[in-house]
Amino acid sequence: DSPTWHEQKQRFADGWNHRTTVSALSRRIEPRHDPQTMSTFENEPDSDWTQPNVREQLNQAIANWSNPALPPIAELDLVLDQAVVAQPAWESRAIEERREILKSASKVMRQDRFRTIACMQREAKKAIWEADAEISEAIDFARYYAMEFETPASLKAQALGVVVVTPPWNFPYAIPAGGVLAALMAGCSVILKPAPETAATAYLLASQLWEAGVPRDVLQFFPCEDGETGKALITDSRVAAVVLTGGWETAQMFRNWRPTLRLYAETSGKNAMVITAQADRELAIKDLVKSAFGHSGQKCSAASLAIVDQEIYHDPAFRRQLRDAASSLFVGPATDRRSIVTPLIRPASPALHRALTILEPGEEWLLEPVQSPQDPCLWSPGIKLGVKPGSWFHLTECFGPVLGIMCSTTLDEAIKWQNATSFGLTAGLHTLDKEEQVYWKDRVQAGNVYINRSTTGAIVRRQPFGGWKRSSIGPGAKAGGPNYSHLFTRLTDRNSFV
Ligand code: SER
Repeated sequence: DSPTWHEQKQRFADGWNHRTTVSALSRRIEPRHDPQTMSTFENEPDSDWTQPNVREQLNQAIANWSNPALPPIAELDLVLDQAVVAQPAWESRAIEERREILKSASKVMRQDRFRTIACMQREAKKAIWEADAEISEAIDFARYYAMEFETPASLKAQALGVVVVTPPWNFPYAIPAGGVLAALMAGCSVILKPAPETAATAYLLASQLWEAGVPRDVLQFFPCEDGETGKALITDSRVAAVVLTGGWETAQMFRNWRPTLRLYAETSGKNAMVITAQADRELAIKDLVKSAFGHSGQKCSAASLAIVDQEIYHDPAFRRQLRDAASSLFVGPATDRRSIVTPLIRPASPALHRALTILEPGEEWLLEPVQSPQDPCLWSPGIKLGVKPGSWFHLTECFGPVLGIMCSTTLDEAIKWQNATSFGLTAGLHTLDKEEQVYWKDRVQAGNVYINRSTTGAIVRRQPFGGWKRSSIGPGAKAGGPNYSHLFTRLTDRNSFV
């Protein structure tokens, strides 16, 4: 049975229970046999905060955490030379050996979970359960790529060489883990260039991988500034490929710097959830609120639009429930365990500031966002009604805690508006009608499409992650899915060698 509205609201009001419930639903799945390797893969469960000893371990980690002193930045030329020299020996190790090192990495990451949460809470201002889910995802990446990487029998897979991984600050642990582990599994050496805002989290990840047996010259931590040195790194011919997660403009800048660059980029998104008249309204509201306001909307996968059928859109009960659900999210610093909406990592960009403070023609606030007088980066959730097709808010990525609602008259119209943006990362649909589900699934233009679920929190192997259109650059293999680690190899027909 679906929980009652009162039960739903209680979950939102109590962050610990809310996350536990969501994680229990989304992560516990049947173990499956991989058809190729016949090994089993089970997703890593999130922490069970109902257990007092689990909470106690976290309390201690938080109390003891202090940011590590980062090593002095080495000279770029030296870093690149070391990476080039170290790579062949790493590649020539048996695949089984690299597989074992990745499995050891998953164990170290698991053991260090609470310190990593403490680090992310402090540095990335992440709520505890958001940080916790990231660690589960990173552990999944290590185990999944270890299991999945195989050289096809008739081909020789040669590693690309030196790979640079440049992750974002919003997923400072799982995203770098994904790129680094896939490239390492394929036999590449890796230079991890962290986002400046979250260098300590990336350093913790690198330390965990070194501890698990990855040689230090095979994985190097290089926290350089984004300007001149960053450009020198990306444009150096010793770098065979770059994995970027960031803005579309950054990807274009890399391309302009080096037109022939082999670039695998996950870029921006402007994602919408369609809610039809056949939706379970309470479930839709729960998933929409989670998708829009988790990590204060600072996710490329976040839903920043809902396209709602007119019958529901005009229903005062729907509006009240949506407003209540969003306004019952606890807004506060990441260090307060009740907080679900935490401060933005940096002051709102001009686009986000416009979205949070200005109504376009025809729009009205269902819930007006409020900036905290104590912390200018902390905003309560905002919801605007009456967003018009083709308007600025409809088409612009804002990356913050503000959700726009559009009113549609047919599913076709909703799909048209959902597809109208230049991006295509995630898309959601809420309906209990099977025909609507099939119709939508065949027409929506996005890499990750979700039915009756939130648009965030892709689970490794079950929901390989990657977008269409301006949300992605590269050959289209998806993180946490088949063949992703093969992006870091070149294939040759074995017969060429006989
Ligand atoms: N993989 C994340 C999600 O699905 C976004 O990077 O939310």
